[in-house]
Amino acid sequence: MTPGPSSGTGFQKVLDNMTAPKLPGQQSGALFSSAGSSAVLEKSSPAVEFRNIEIAYGKFVAVRDFSLSIQKGSFVTLLGPSGCGKTTILRSIAGLVDISGGQIMIDGRRVDDVPIYKRNIGLVFQSYALFPHKSVFDNVAFGLKYHNVPKSDIERKVGKALEMVRLPGSEKKLPSQLSGGQQQRIALARAIVFEPQVLLLDEPLSALDANMREEMRVEIKKIQKETGITAIFVTHDQEEALSMSDRIVVMNAGAMEQIGAPEEVYEMPATAFVADFLGKANMLAGTVSKSDGPTATVTLAAGQTVKVVSPKPLSPGAPVTVVVRPEKLSLESGAMANRLTGRVASTSYLGGSATYEIDIGGKRTVRVNTQINGRVVREGGAINIGFDPAGCVLLDEKGIRIS
Ligand SMILES: Nc1ncnc2c1ncn2[C@@H]1O[C@H](COP(=O)(O)OP(=O)(O)OP(=O)(O)O)[C@@H](O)[C@H]1O
Ligand SMILES: [Mg+2]
Repeated sequence: MTPGPSSGTGFQKVLDNMTAPKLPGQQSGALFSSAGSSAVLEKSSPAVEFRNIEIAYGKFVAVRDFSLSIQKGSFVTLLGPSGCGKTTILRSIAGLVDISGGQIMIDGRRVDDVPIYKRNIGLVFQSYALFPHKSVFDNVAFGLKYHNVPKSDIERKVGKALEMVRLPGSEKKLPSQLSGGQQQRIALARAIVFEPQVLLLDEPLSALDANMREEMRVEIKKIQKETGITAIFVTHDQEEALSMSDRIVVMNAGAMEQIGAPEEVYEMPATAFVADFLGKANMLAGTVSKSDGPTATVTLAAGQTVKVVSPKPLSPGAPVTVVVRPEKLSLESGAMANRLTGRVASTSYLGGSATYEIDIGGKRTVRVNTQINGRVVREGGAINIGFDPAGCVLLDEKGIRIS
């Protein structure tokens, strides 16, 4: 990948945007000294609020009826498949794309008509977009210089930002002398150096290798906590979303599918889409054969029968989908209320754990993730799988969680 700014007005717009006018309290050398600690942050109005926004590219509506309130100092992730509108929403906050309906408020103020350069937003992209021929110092200082911040302040702020991203003393280097992860840290330093109100991160880790990605996850989260900045992070990587976020917004085809804390969206997916996108749940189609208080018996399309805990009584004959996470299924089914019999179709050994695809008949397979405990079950072997009736979620025929 070629690090370097893309040509044209888009990137210039971004730079303009990164160089927003100084806010009160930004005179000191310490980054986020006045507004940084989350304890000092004013909690009254949300950092960013979308009210029923719609964004269209010509006739194509990329985002529809999207409402979201983001609290100051929180870390919110937009998660969803390619093309679902994540980048479009981020760009609308920065003012890089116009909304065709609704309102966007930043810190309680409507910004629909506020130009990019007047919004105080920091941006980090997947492609680091550093100037290849400028030093690290000049890359990070670019926005500050643009707004005539005094030289001594610039040096202090750049030094501080580089310390924050753990690259102190790298001022004289060129981007090409740095690894991908280091370049992304410089891009992060450049985005936080002018203490923006909101930090937008669009898939900032996807160009990095797996180890570096994990390291940067931890670092970004740490910097966000230290500075108390409001961060809006875009990814299609569920692990990133689950490990970094205070709240996750799951998007599908331009609309919000579910919002909640990571455990909430993972454990209680609101729809079939969320269950499948986040964690690749097993979706076992079936029909209710008996409903007895909180327990229902479901005959699966694969032919086997399971017991599930239902939040409400269900009508016999009703079509349902039993959602079970791969790690809620166990190969030691002895003591469990539900037992499915099957045959191991494939085994993926993952070190301490393994993933099995198990054929349960009727051309259906279920996926099991389990600790190995010294024994890997080979392909072709017959096997019993067990799960707890309370360890699943039920969806109705429209794919909506029964609650
Ligand atoms: N400038 C544009 N003109 C026309 N259509 C666009 C434009 N930008 C994006 N789109 C369309 O809008 C939809 C949402 O795009 P967006 O870039 O927001 O998706 P995304 O969720 O960020 O996807 P990815 O994960 O691939 O980055 C897509 O269908 C895309 O093709
Ligand atoms: Mg995108």
